[in-house]
Amino acid sequence: MKPSLLLVVACCLAAQLFDAANAASAVGDPGMRRDELRVAFEAWNFCNEVGNEEAPGMGSPRAADCFHISSNGSLIHKVTEVDNKLGVGKPFPGLPEKALNDPNLYAVEKELYLGSLCEVADHTAPTKPWQFWMIMLKNGNYDTRSGLCPKNGEKVPPFISGQFPCFGKGCMNQPLLYHQPTAVVTSENGIKTMKGGFSGTYDLVPFPPPFGIGTLGDSSLNSYFEVVWEKKVGDGGSWIFRHKLRTTKFYPWLMLYLRADATKGFSCGYHYDSRGMLKILPESPDFKVKLTLDIKQGGGPKSQFYLMDIGSCWKNDGRPCDGDVLTDVTRYSEMIINPETQAWCSPASMNRCPPYHITPNNIKILRNDTAHFPYSAYHYYCAPGNARFLEFPDSTCDPYSNPQAQELVQLLPHPVWAEYGYPSKRGEGWVGDGRTWELNVGALSSRLYFYQDPGTRPARRIWTSLDVGTEIFVSNKEEVAEWTLSDFDVILTSQPPSSA
Ligand SMILES: *[C@@H]1O[C@H](CO)[C@@H](O)[C@H](O)[C@H]1NC(C)=O
Ligand SMILES: *[C@@H]1O[C@H](CO)[C@@H](O)[C@H](O)[C@H]1NC(C)=O
Repeated sequence: MKPSLLLVVACCLAAQLFDAANAASAVGDPGMRRDELRVAFEAWNFCNEVGNEEAPGMGSPRAADCFHISSNGSLIHKVTEVDNKLGVGKPFPGLPEKALNDPNLYAVEKELYLGSLCEVADHTAPTKPWQFWMIMLKNGNYDTRSGLCPKNGEKVPPFISGQFPCFGKGCMNQPLLYHQPTAVVTSENGIKTMKGGFSGTYDLVPFPPPFGIGTLGDSSLNSYFEVVWEKKVGDGGSWIFRHKLRTTKFYPWLMLYLRADATKGFSCGYHYDSRGMLKILPESPDFKVKLTLDIKQGGGPKSQFYLMDIGSCWKNDGRPCDGDVLTDVTRYSEMIINPETQAWCSPASMNRCPPYHITPNNIKILRNDTAHFPYSAYHYYCAPGNARFLEFPDSTCDPYSNPQAQELVQLLPHPVWAEYGYPSKRGEGWVGDGRTWELNVGALSSRLYFYQDPGTRPARRIWTSLDVGTEIFVSNKEEVAEWTLSDFDVILTSQPPSSA
């Protein structure tokens, strides 16, 4: 989708004025190398909100760990544990009165507040302050009798359905969250290592309390999540983020991602202002993503491990999102690298394929061209539930799990993606095959099909969220996924796209 000639000219002039040394990375902390870490945590219910209530004693499910290092080497934290425990009813600077007792509005404001404490100034002109990497945890339980989730953005009354996991009242709860603030540990041979983490469980009465960093708990009855970060002081290398996620019978659908989100505006899946790491928003086709991923445990056959997941939002007529959940559409594309994940798209199920595939040479292959369409390169395509001109046959996305309608383009490792540096065959990048990837996410995403109303101007594909992690999609038994992520960078390969 080429920008108009006018835009091309405008970009290139701007590029000449741009400081090349700082133009290379779109993130505030290129490659995760900055000793003075910025990381935050957020937990979401099925439709990306808090819901009716916070977990007891936990405050609003937003937290952060941000510090600077004093001249004597001690870590000075910018976010206190009192800040991290802030929850409904407790005022803080800048909190609008209407948000004080509303768990959903409160979480939004708390994220902005934590962002203000963590914000790092950027001295390039124009300045582009940035805040933090975001760890996102989501509980896929949906109590359809709760009335909590809209349908394609439209408020709907409670209903009865056996379609979603839920053990009963309270299944959409927020987790218990423990924080181990980053601290320096000096080894016997004098090496200083910084380490901290977030961990917790959805089980409000966990076994055995208390939960601690580095344990999965003694009981397999617990759901569990953990992200521990670690780095040697001043070594110039990357922070290593170690993730663990465990599903159970009661919490069979959990998601844990590390996201680079926009520093302002709507990041993907939000319908409110958020904070993040993308000080410049990357635009297709002009960016790449570099990262190191080492998966220790896959999380079972239902674990849709994303290398990677990119998200944005635009309307079906191509205009950018403006927070009107009835016409905004979240757009996701993700490659699932679990070799057990099958292609749901096939010649017999063309409704689960995008209408066409585009080759690197820009040749369009229709999905009914059974001799040429790469069916096994697509896990599942689903169209926005509010699209009015879908090509038959179609499959629309789950209308409840985002605050607005959504569209998903889910890919599988396949030779057609090799050109972009993505896994080209099953098993690449999976357990035992840890690698550093340089993915041409920009080029690939410029050639994916996304729905638009006929005759409308193609949307600019500007991405507000880039993440890596897994979605264990309704496991029928306890599953554990475990992986490390490091070296994350978003590299601009051409002129700077529109700034955040
Ligand atoms: C190091 O400096 C900080 C303030 O910058 C101070 O609070 C702390 O006590 C100092 N630690 C030591 C061991 O001197
Ligand atoms: C394939 O689909 C296109 C529309 O997407 C249609 O025009 C064409 O007739 C179809 N071809 C076959 C062989 O069904």
